This record gives sequence, structure tokens and C-alpha cells, in this order.
Amino acid sequence: MQTTLLNERYTLANGVRIPKLAFGTSPLTQAVCKDAVITALEIGYRHLDTAAIYDNEDAVGEAVKASGLSRSELFITTKLDARIKDPHQIKPALMKSLDALGMEYVDLYLIHWPKPMDEMDDDAKNYDEANAAIFTEMASLMKAGYIRAIGVSNFSPRDLKSLIAKTALVPHVNQIRYHIGHTQEDTTAFCDQADILVEAYSPLSKERFIEHETLQAIATRYGVSVAQLMLRFCIDEGRLPLPNSKTPSRIRENALLDFSIDAEDRKRLKTWTPEK
Ligand SMILES: NC(=O)c1ccc[n+]([C@@H]2O[C@H](COP(=O)([O-])OP(=O)(O)OC[C@H]3O[C@@H](n4cnc5c(N)ncnc54)[C@H](OP(=O)(O)O)[C@@H]3O)[C@@H](O)[C@H]2O)c1
Repeated sequence: MQTTLLNERYTLANGVRIPKLAFGTSPLTQAVCKDAVITALEIGYRHLDTAAIYDNEDAVGEAVKASGLSRSELFITTKLDARIKDPHQIKPALMKSLDALGMEYVDLYLIHWPKPMDEMDDDAKNYDEANAAIFTEMASLMKAGYIRAIGVSNFSPRDLKSLIAKTALVPHVNQIRYHIGHTQEDTTAFCDQADILVEAYSPLSKERFIEHETLQAIATRYGVSVAQLMLRFCIDEGRLPLPNSKTPSRIRENALLDFSIDAEDRKRLKTWTPEK
């Protein structure tokens, strides 16, 4: 099987071209992260997903430097720490990320969560005004050349509607948990009609669906692993998966996606649950 998918790109609403497969870097840090990213770049991944909170932007930057690849060949995403909700702190936070990465710009900058993590379950709290001010500041930093595209992560349709209404800006990307068994139909439908690219984190699932016998049987029919089936499903649905692995053979396996899932199986996988 070939790896031509590594050369394919989606086009964001502002015309920026984004590689269809990314290498996720959480929870890797330090030498493990650097080695994994070097391996991913050797295999041909050109899109790296990091975040201020992952504490690995420096390792990602070192790996990029070691690869000898030119900056323009790469697509680098990082994310604003969700605890930062003061628009005046955005530029310093971005500069800190750029400094750690050893880069002059990032391709994509995301608000990591709509609320600080420890307040996520507090329905009484919202940061709609702060997120709008932050996003407006991110748009200014994009105009200034520090960022090529801007987006959000873990935003619900409610969060997106509020952000768009308050800023008149539409995020280019919403990065959400998305995989077979968790396809977030409401959020993906909203993003599709608003031309917001959905990036799929945890595309292999936290629940070890990778071991499920039904998925194994379907994968066997295509002559692929369940991981490959789960990643190809994201691509066939127009999503952008961000698989992570510290294991070189898996980093390679996860990029071998030159097959497609037929319409009937896709329909079944879209509504699949582990009980089925
Ligand atoms: N925006 C957000 O809030 C958010 C949240 C979570 C994640 N993310 C991003 O999404 C990326 C991926 O998410 P994730 O790490 O949660 O989940 P994931 O990529 O779905 O799963 C990673 C796990 O699967 C294993 N694995 C990888 N390839 C495999 C294969 N071919 N066969 C069997 N097992 C395999 C890895 O093990 P080994 O490492 O041992 O190989 C690792 O334990 C992160 O790295 C991060 O960049 C974003």
C-alpha cells in the first residue's frame, strides 16, 4: 500500500491548504516526542499538532530543526492554553509558543477549550465575551503574519454560534474528539454548513474500540488494521485525523491509508456503537 494520502490537502475557508493527516504529539514530551516527530517527518507527515499545555513545543521545534525540512513544507498547529481568557495575554502566549518552537509563525492557532478545563462541567459559567475578544485578537495576529489560519477546539454548536455572532468571524477549524463510535453529529453538521474543517482528535478512541471484533471483521475485509479503518473513516467523512504514537511501526501504519471504505460500510460505521 502507498502513502499518497500524506501529499493530499484540504483547503480552509481562507484558502490555506492543510495536509489531510496530522501527527498528534500529546502526551509525548522531551526525547520521546522529539524522536517520534523525527520518525513521523521521515515517513512523510508534514502536519504536526501541538499545544502550549502539552509542554512539548520545544521538542517539536527541535525535531523540525533536526529533520532539515524547510519551514514552508510544514504545517504546524499549536493551541492557546485554555486558562488564558484575557485578550491582552494572547500575543505574549503566542510569542512564547513561537519561541519554544523556534519559528516565526504557526500555520494554525486554536483556542484549546471554550472554558478552563477545571470549569468545563460548570454550566453556570461561560467565557463567550472573553472568547470573542481573544478570537478577534487572534485575527489581528493573523493579519500581522504570525498565524496563517485561526480556529477553536472543543467548541459546541452553542459556543460556535456565540463566537460567530459576537465577532462576525468564522473559525477555519474546530478540533474535536471524533472517531467511529463518537461522531458528534450536531457539531459536525454545524461545522459543515459553516465551512469549518473538523479535525478529529483521539481518532483511535480512548475506549480501545480498536480491539472490537465487529470493527476487526470489517478491517479484515479491506486488508487493513482497525487503526487504519478508523483513520480512513475520518478522511472519507471529510475530517482531519490527528493520530499519535510513540511507536515507529504504528506511526508508519497510521499513514498507510490509500484505500476507501464503501458507502454501505461508511453508513454503518457512522452510527456504530460498541453494543452493535
Ligand atoms: N484539542 C484537544 O483537546 C485534544 C485532546 C486530545 C488529543 N488531542 C490531539 O490529538 C492527538 C491524538 O489523540 P490521542 O493521543 O488522544 O489519541 P489516538 O491518537 O487516537 O490514540 C493514541 C494511542 O493509540 C495508540 N496507537 C497509535 N497507533 C496505533 C495503532 N496503529 N495500533 C494500535 N494502537 C495505536 C498509541 O500507543 P503508542 O504510543 O504506544 O504506540 C496511543 O496509546 C493528540 O496527540 C493531540 O495532538 C487534542
